[in-house]
Amino acid sequence: MSNLILGIESSCDETAAAVVESGRREVASVVHSQIDEHAKWGGVVPEIASRSHLEQILPVLDRCLSEAQVELTDLAGIAVTNRPGLIGSLLVGVGAAKGLALATDLPLVGVDHIKAHVYAATMDLAHDPYPAIALVVSGGHTALYLAEGALSMTPLASTLDDAAGEAFDKVAHMLGLSYPGGPSISKLALEGDPKAIAFPRYRPKRGGLGFSFSGLKTAVLYHLRGGDALAPTPAPEDIVERANVAASFQEAVVDALVKMTLKAAKEHNLTQVLVAGGVGCNQRLREVFAQASEPEGIHVHFPPPDRCTDNAVMIAGLGWQLFETGQAGDLNLDASPR
Ligand code: KG4
Ligand code: ZN
Repeated sequence: MSNLILGIESSCDETAAAVVESGRREVASVVHSQIDEHAKWGGVVPEIASRSHLEQILPVLDRCLSEAQVELTDLAGIAVTNRPGLIGSLLVGVGAAKGLALATDLPLVGVDHIKAHVYAATMDLAHDPYPAIALVVSGGHTALYLAEGALSMTPLASTLDDAAGEAFDKVAHMLGLSYPGGPSISKLALEGDPKAIAFPRYRPKRGGLGFSFSGLKTAVLYHLRGGDALAPTPAPEDIVERANVAASFQEAVVDALVKMTLKAAKEHNLTQVLVAGGVGCNQRLREVFAQASEPEGIHVHFPPPDRCTDNAVMIAGLGWQLFETGQAGDLNLDASPR
């Protein structure tokens, strides 16, 4: 009996396919990123994304199966991201998965993209990481969950406005840096002083849990405009000033993410934290988490960087868990933006 699952991901701006064995071992993984197509717009354009997925989905699937050296008949099932995400993009992956399932008679399962991001942080662990606090930080989501198992996640808090990755992308745009903003800001921040500018940190009322990044984003804009809200679009010439803005902005985001996550862990008496999503690539986030968690006896696990950003390994991995627990779907599988 085969333990090989084909995973398909197309929820945002990566077209990806992977073959994973027993929910853990990567056999092959192909990711086609649309970054170049969206870069000049400073963010993901949904129409461009859907069209690019249509062009890429079959070549990506072909390359993945050939790199894995498996035939469709060697597979045990097909897993596809069916929520949440851009609906036009999701439909491309779901359509391809249904076509393959129909042609091969393989079982099909729909996978939640957010749970899959968290699952990615557990794939390399030798021990059981549950129960844990999970922080999902990506371009579309910033939220904390109480994770009691790979398939059992209760939401604890989320952002009131922008996601952390979205704030990185928008501030990068203000600084005239390339999209996606996370990698460009973190690179520039290496040259800057994180304490140079005291950007505001959001604190939820009554000591609750939560995030908000739009006030921070506006504070950066006002800082760049020298306090004049109507001034023309800034982007300082001075390289030291630009690096200081990048470093101080990054520090404010990292500070909020780390403090809220550790607060949630302490409130729930948990010593395991899983961090997932594209912003999880951020080196400063990893450093500050390590420094702040150690004295509290809390262990923070990150996936390797290529599994923080969107990929299909996490979809095939969590898909296998769904098949194992008898949760296969059928050809009526729906895509949902939420
Ligand atoms: O998880 P992901 O690939 O896609 C979504 O599901 O949204 O995350 C993409 C986001 C982008 O906003 C990008 O700027 C951010 O992750 N990102 C980073 C870094 N690398 C990617 N943010 C901060 N630091 C990074 N090194
Ligand atoms: Zn994602």
